[in-house]
Amino acid sequence: MRFETLAVHAAADIDRETGAVAPPLHLSTTFEHPADSTQITGYLYQRYANPTQDRLEEALAALDGGAAALAFATGMAAGAALLQNLPQGGEVLMADDTYFAFRKLAERFFPRWGLTWRLVDMSDPVAVAAAIGPETVCIWAETPSNPRLKVTSVAALSALARPRAIKLVVDATFATPALLNPIALGADVVLHSTTKYLGGHSDAMGGALIFGERSAWSDAILETRKLQGATASPFASWLILRGIRTLAPRVSWQSKSAQALAEFLVAHPRVCAVHYPGLAEHPGHGIAQREMRQFGGMLSVEIVGGREAALNVANALSLFINATSLGGYESLVEHRESVEGRGSPTPANLLRLSVGLEHCEDLIADWQQALACAG
Ligand SMILES: Cc1ncc(COP(=O)(O)O)c(C=O)c1O
Repeated sequence: MRFETLAVHAAADIDRETGAVAPPLHLSTTFEHPADSTQITGYLYQRYANPTQDRLEEALAALDGGAAALAFATGMAAGAALLQNLPQGGEVLMADDTYFAFRKLAERFFPRWGLTWRLVDMSDPVAVAAAIGPETVCIWAETPSNPRLKVTSVAALSALARPRAIKLVVDATFATPALLNPIALGADVVLHSTTKYLGGHSDAMGGALIFGERSAWSDAILETRKLQGATASPFASWLILRGIRTLAPRVSWQSKSAQALAEFLVAHPRVCAVHYPGLAEHPGHGIAQREMRQFGGMLSVEIVGGREAALNVANALSLFINATSLGGYESLVEHRESVEGRGSPTPANLLRLSVGLEHCEDLIADWQQALACAG
């Protein structure tokens, strides 16, 4: 079955009781069970599991070709639960352009969890091979990365990780399962902030881990979710499930618009760099062509004139809303250095764009006027 069809039909069974085509939303926090709790076969308590979250998990596992999926309250909760279940004393190799909150999480919590980490340029498998040491237990890749759109070959990292029994985790939030299937390329786990493209409407928070295999390790991560209470809410699960049904056409449209916008911006004299894997000159273009179906709806640009010039352009845009997050139907722009705060490695003249579902000619015209009036 092709992805577009799968996204519509995965875990879309008709409700047996009512015949409802749209899935029921079960908000109950508690479920009736036998007096003797050892006899429970169904649901017990929403934090442990609930029917709407289960349906979402079934769909997520199908979309990424995984054996099991766990839905979480946020993408960060998903990542944290996984990292907390790595063996103490282990080292995590993290992409040097990892989403900044995961870098902060490492700084703040890895010492308490008995983990160490090292930042590596994941777009260079030779650098990753050289960084692997006897304590390495996990390679944490993100592709394309936030915010510099660095592209990593999942197949190349898998060739390094598998023989050494190192867990390969791929944060594929920017790519979505519509464009990249890390498990098929050899990853152990895929992470999504489902808040982004899977939800698709900037109105639901969520995260997910999709596992290539179910194991004692994935069960331990489930236990962590239960005990730490990082369960996805039924309503958020329902909204994300609804978003999944239109994921394929949204991402396809957004990829085409992002490509057109990137091509316009790369030729503009007030733009000194465009980071978009769909451009032939992007260092990850070849990998993205091999491993992704399209190049995605995210790009970042560096503006001539530094920080102030970039802020002026962001302020002059009118269709692109200055707001954080990404992957919704609306176009967003964000000055990443100022949101990431002190110590941010992001260039101060960089603006990150999430291309929405507007017509790309209107989006290009918006950039044309903003670059002209901020100049
Ligand atoms: C690449 C990436 N991974 C993970 C996350 C964290 O997701 P959430 O905000 O849902 O916790 C984000 C959020 O922006 C992200 O961009």
